[in-house]
Amino acid sequence: MKVFLVAGARPNFMKIAPIYRASLTVPGVDCRIVHTGQHYDHEMSQAFFDDLEIPQPQYFLDAGSGSHAVQTAKIMVAFEKICESEKPDLVLVVGDVNSTLACSIVAKKLLIKVAHVEAGLRSFDLSMPEEINRMVTDAISDYFFVTEESGKLNLLREGRSVESVHFVGHVMIDNLLYQLENMKSVQGSTFNVQGLKAKGQYAFMTLHRPSNVDDKNTFLGIAGALNEIAKELIILFPVHPRTKKMMEQFNIHFSDNIKLLPPLGFKESLFLWKDAKIVLTDSGGLQEETTALGIPCVTIRENTERPITVELGTNVLAGTTKEGILKAYEQCFAKVRTASIPPLWDGKAAERIWEVIKNSFK
Ligand code: UD1
Repeated sequence: MKVFLVAGARPNFMKIAPIYRASLTVPGVDCRIVHTGQHYDHEMSQAFFDDLEIPQPQYFLDAGSGSHAVQTAKIMVAFEKICESEKPDLVLVVGDVNSTLACSIVAKKLLIKVAHVEAGLRSFDLSMPEEINRMVTDAISDYFFVTEESGKLNLLREGRSVESVHFVGHVMIDNLLYQLENMKSVQGSTFNVQGLKAKGQYAFMTLHRPSNVDDKNTFLGIAGALNEIAKELIILFPVHPRTKKMMEQFNIHFSDNIKLLPPLGFKESLFLWKDAKIVLTDSGGLQEETTALGIPCVTIRENTERPITVELGTNVLAGTTKEGILKAYEQCFAKVRTASIPPLWDGKAAERIWEVIKNSFK
């Protein structure tokens, strides 16, 4: 059985790593990695392949950046060619980026089965490109692998059949636990941050969502809150290329206590945030990873498609105003005391996914 495992952007790489690794133990499965090239800078792509122990992709589509339409179209054209020549039995897509959308549409129109890992998540905010990607992918996929109860409920409400929805846990947490185990043997970081204090004495931050950084007033409000927090806590801030571009365009400055870093590889990033006092982020994945490790998290967004992190985990939704972020910052330390780890976030999601696929393709 030939399976194409698709990845294109940074958050995909953490998810395909455990799926690929687990595929090697499934008899009769020929799992091939397709990299769409949505992310292409060394630190956004190859650095992750190296850190996550993912082999070189069998297919590289070289799509690159562009408007949503251009990027999606380029991926579709290139992916169609390899699907037609290689005829996979199943296309497995992860997450909610443009590569997820593009490849699921192409496969489905060629009558190839599609499996969506991390299916069913909904922010109910259609101004978010990822929400459109999630909804379209889930409208046409054949197998849905969900990470939390809300994903299952959303899919059933949208008319997907009970048999097609599989609550398997979270492959990103598989990867996190695997990497943490490996990290135990590593002493220190190769990345020296000037002024970095001891464990638990700094904050770690990521910010890259278009709704936060492409609008000057929103970005200024967020920067104001962060500068305030930085009066009491050093903030380590690896800067995404989009954010860097917008900081320059809007002439936004951060206090000296906010240490601007280049985008970090997976291990470097984990090494820093796992010991942070608090994480501030607008990423999807970090909301979940902090919940898995019991680290306070302030999410700089109006909504989340990952409600379990707020209901059970350590996540506090802050909105995007200065006041909202400062209030969430005050609240989140208390929340950790009652937080717990969501069901099935135990490092075995990839195994469960292959079990389902194996049984379905008998
Ligand atoms: C994409 C995903 C988003 C995910 C994020 C993680 C979509 C719709 N969005 O957003 O869900 O959270 O990845 O990073 O798929 N760029 C570089 N080098 C690169 C890649 C991008 O400099 O290797 C710059 C380019 O100027 C590009 C911009 O970043 O135009 C945005 O890249 P793009 O992949 O379009 O979207 P992201 O904001 O990264």
